[in-house]
Amino acid sequence: MKLEGNTVLITGGASGIGLALAERFVKAGSKVIAVGRREDKLREAQRHLPGLHIWVCDVGRATERLALLAWVQQEFPRLNVLVNNAGIQRRVRLTEPSDWETQQQELAINLEAPIHLSTLFVPHLREQRQPAIINVTSGLAFAPLVAAPVYSATKAALHSFTLSLRQQLAATPVRVLEIVPPAVNTDLGGPGLHTFGVPVHDFADSVMQRLAAGEEEVGYGTSEEARRASREQLDARFKLMNGH
Ligand SMILES: NC(=O)c1ccc[n+]([C@@H]2O[C@H](COP(=O)([O-])OP(=O)(O)OC[C@H]3O[C@@H](n4cnc5c(N)ncnc54)[C@H](OP(=O)(O)O)[C@@H]3O)[C@@H](O)[C@H]2O)c1
Repeated sequence: MKLEGNTVLITGGASGIGLALAERFVKAGSKVIAVGRREDKLREAQRHLPGLHIWVCDVGRATERLALLAWVQQEFPRLNVLVNNAGIQRRVRLTEPSDWETQQQELAINLEAPIHLSTLFVPHLREQRQPAIINVTSGLAFAPLVAAPVYSATKAALHSFTLSLRQQLAATPVRVLEIVPPAVNTDLGGPGLHTFGVPVHDFADSVMQRLAAGEEEVGYGTSEEARRASREQLDARFKLMNGH
């Protein structure tokens, strides 16, 4: 894909991977809109990246997704790239009681939101020049982390949805791309929990270069291995990650 001359909406664009992608799109000469729930975080990102447009939105709520589309069509009628990046990760013990509302939130943000936003935005995107949808999944889509069972399942489902979406849109101008991060040093799951991950800027530089070169599904390090692995390799990875 071309990195310049786009108008790009990035969910969860105020921090971590979303902000790193925003920086690279802006540097390449694209306009970027970052959305998220915390206004203070969005304003901080805007100070860091002058020219960044921001909008407070909880993508886990269907009504807010509809309002987001209406706002974008009004304010940014040339929007041509949607990046479904917002996500949360929870550690869940399936043997312990947990209220459904809490569990359902992870499904709503990580899976319902990208599916709903993709289908909502397709009619708008297909009328634009060089349109694309970029879904951010995870290496855990291919072999789950047992301690994050719902998270891993949402990412496996989003990877599957992305393959189907790409095929269904093949006859339209809308390209469907997937970024498959490995563990990256961000605030995912809460500050300090992902410090073992790879540096976010190294990851984002590599991913953007490969998207610019025309690749459709891009991993990095261990997630590049995971997305290309055989079933035997995935079984070994599952054991290694989950201590069996
Ligand atoms: N870091 C990793 O190791 C890793 C690995 C594989 C995949 N990923 C994926 O990469 C994506 C970005 O994560 P990250 O690592 O950059 O973590 P992060 O820094 O925590 O970023 C997540 C972003 O999503 C936003 N967000 C969360 N819930 C939202 C909601 N309901 N509505 C709107 N925005 C919401 C957050 O902002 P607010 O809280 O203000 O809403 C935040 O800006 C996620 O999809 C994650 O699953 C990350």
